Amino acid sequence: MRTRKGTQMLRTILARRTHTAFQDTPVPESALNHILSAGMLAPTRFHQRPWHFIILRDAEVKQEIASALRLKPSLAGAPIWIAVVAEEDGPAAWDLDAAAAAQSMLIAATALGLGSAWLMPWLGNPDALGRVEQLLGLPANVHLAMILAVGFPAEELPAHREEEVYESSRVHLEQVRHAPSNAPAC
Ligand SMILES: Cc1cc2nc3c(=O)[nH]c(=O)nc-3n(C[C@H](O)[C@H](O)[C@H](O)COP(=O)(O)O)c2cc1C
Repeated sequence: MRTRKGTQMLRTILARRTHTAFQDTPVPESALNHILSAGMLAPTRFHQRPWHFIILRDAEVKQEIASALRLKPSLAGAPIWIAVVAEEDGPAAWDLDAAAAAQSMLIAATALGLGSAWLMPWLGNPDALGRVEQLLGLPANVHLAMILAVGFPAEELPAHREEEVYESSRVHLEQVRHAPSNAPAC
């Protein structure tokens, strides 16, 4: 049954978009704390909470990392970057734990009227990842999982529409009847 709070939550999920340009307006400290709390509330394997959150505000540092990653320059203009890093925790779940935290932080940022982007442009480029981990001064057992850019968006992006994103061909009742890659639309 839908409650008013539930409807608002679903609206926030639909409103979350990837923003790549931001206003200079600083992110209030209280908003950042709510975002970080949302990350720390996410589930983790065995409740190990392997993550740490590095807050990057310095324009030169962001620019240096953006250059190493060949990021769109406007992304470095986000007032805050949150680098989510995590300690190795035995059978690798640190990246899943970090991803759960990241998604919660993106939803919290959206709820607070902020724009955000999940950045991982080093996928398939271990050298670039290594350079950024070095710039962040991470010890060998701590890995960079993703960077979240956060700020007031330079432009509003339209919210997703449930009827546009929902694909019934990706939902399988009891068993997969078609190879996922060529499943016909029902
Ligand atoms: C694992 C992962 C890596 C991503 N890496 C990047 C990235 O490096 N640069 C970027 O602009 N967006 C990145 N994104 C954001 C996606 O491109 C974006 O979510 C997708 O295009 C859908 O748009 P939406 O977020 O507005 O719904 C990433 C998202 C995920 C989950």
